[in-house]
Amino acid sequence: MKVLFIGDVVGSMGREMIQDYVPKLKNKFKPQATIVNGENAGAGGRGITEKIYKEFLQCGVDAVTMGNHTWDKREIFEFIDDAKKLIRPANYPAAADVPGKGIAYIKINQQELAVINLHGRTFMGDFEDPFRVGEQLVEEAKKRTPHILIDFHAEATSEKEAMGWFMDGKASAVVGTHTHVQTNDQRILSSGTGYMTDVGMTGFYDGILGMKKGPILNKFLTQLPNRFEVPENGRKRLNGCFIEFDNQTGKTKHIESIRIDDDHPFDL
Ligand SMILES: [Fe+2]
Repeated sequence: MKVLFIGDVVGSMGREMIQDYVPKLKNKFKPQATIVNGENAGAGGRGITEKIYKEFLQCGVDAVTMGNHTWDKREIFEFIDDAKKLIRPANYPAAADVPGKGIAYIKINQQELAVINLHGRTFMGDFEDPFRVGEQLVEEAKKRTPHILIDFHAEATSEKEAMGWFMDGKASAVVGTHTHVQTNDQRILSSGTGYMTDVGMTGFYDGILGMKKGPILNKFLTQLPNRFEVPENGRKRLNGCFIEFDNQTGKTKHIESIRIDDDHPFDL
């Protein structure tokens, strides 16, 4: 099974990259499932609206994962329970009472891909233990399919690597999101789990984490409050990864990073 995963889509420029490149990437890699992290896709780089969620599906995206900005656009409370392919972090303290779900199954011919979204805790708040919640979900998913992908939306590289090793041999792959800078550590762990600390972000290329650099620089230079802005024009980038799972065992056979920008032009 071949899976394309695209990292944190930030604002309108990120969405434009999805429209422009998902068809091209599908043509190149022939993935059976395409997954996008969409928690920054809304205006201002925050949250997601129903319109954006539907646009992603129209572009050929099969599932949209989220993170700490899941609830930033209030309308999500209205549509998340009907959005079958939207996956929010599974490890909220009272997850049973939280709208939406932390795992979804994508049907691919006779097979299924389980997609799980987990939220980190280090520097990120009081969530339930993502390791134990993730393990339970993986055990549940294993009853249906050997193909299990985890998007671990977390800040600390140590917590992300720990999740990779914790899930080694359990999940097919653990990919990190949230920090927006692509890491160059994609690999197959010793028991067959594909791993990458952060797949990077999709959006404005000449800024800081997808935002205009001026206000962020000002904040660092002055320590005064600044309003961060997501620009709507400029050079764009797309970051992601392509993973292939063994059809029988679900273990990763191949993982590679994807990076498209003016310095790394798309190549067929
Ligand atoms: Fe995030």
